[in-house]
Amino acid sequence: MKSVSLSEILLNAQKSNWAAGHFNISNLEQLRAIMEAAKKFNAPIMIGLSEGERKFVGLRQAVALVKAFKEEYGLPVFLNPDHSHSVDSAKEAYDVGFNSIHIDLSKLPFNENIEGTKEVADYVKSKNPEISVEGELGYLRGESRIQKEVIKIKPEDLTKPEEAAEFAEKTGIDRFAGAYGNSHGISVDEPALDIERIKAVRYVLPERVAMVLHGGSGIPDSQIKEAIKAGISNIHVNTEIRTAYAEALRKFLADNPEETTPYKIMAPAVEAVRIKVEEKLKLFNSVIRI
Ligand code: G3H
Ligand code: ZN
Repeated sequence: MKSVSLSEILLNAQKSNWAAGHFNISNLEQLRAIMEAAKKFNAPIMIGLSEGERKFVGLRQAVALVKAFKEEYGLPVFLNPDHSHSVDSAKEAYDVGFNSIHIDLSKLPFNENIEGTKEVADYVKSKNPEISVEGELGYLRGESRIQKEVIKIKPEDLTKPEEAAEFAEKTGIDRFAGAYGNSHGISVDEPALDIERIKAVRYVLPERVAMVLHGGSGIPDSQIKEAIKAGISNIHVNTEIRTAYAEALRKFLADNPEETTPYKIMAPAVEAVRIKVEEKLKLFNSVIRI
């Protein structure tokens, strides 16, 4: 298989109106389910681990697991240290073998965010210019769980197009994550993406910089399709996968309290995650993109 870079894949997605899926994992079962869905649909895929997920799985372990699936399934798979909140944690992920980088210093003042993001981009590019680096600008609220209270997104949270352009230019990133009314987790009320803002950011960014939508869980399908049309070419999903996994596991254990064989206990959870990922890959129009 000819190896295609993540930047090439995301540029193709941008031009042809689809988005590559980025799915988070905490264990082998979730990874297997995502890889099976990707294989069935011939879809390029990104596997993400947040700092918490990385701590649980292990950095080297994540690299080895993804490598094994990549070799066996022959798919373009990109392993991403999702929301690295420090320069060191992003660099460490690169050093152990992650082949995509996300540095998220969006909670810092604009100039400090630029400085740290540029440091990571320069570091990674000096070692391998092909690796795609993501930076983040704007305030993304919430965390990847089912929210109990309404999350109020303030106008000042949202990404400003003129800052997005300056940020991309000064940092040298390949992927831009912004705030457009999205939040992490499944929100109580229906999210309302600011599609015009996505279009405005797309307009000012260089074509080679891909636009990433975080907080993909709980956003109505119609808005996801609009966001892709407006220029989003990469969508992150975590909570819906976690929920599918946890619900299937809880049900199996409640129905089969005597079962002790792990691969039997986990089978319905793997199946539930696979079905959820297939649903998202169809929604993102990323079927048969290899
Ligand atoms: O980086 C991870 C994603 O943004 C996950 O968001 O839990 O709302 O799907 P989500
Ligand atoms: Zn995210």
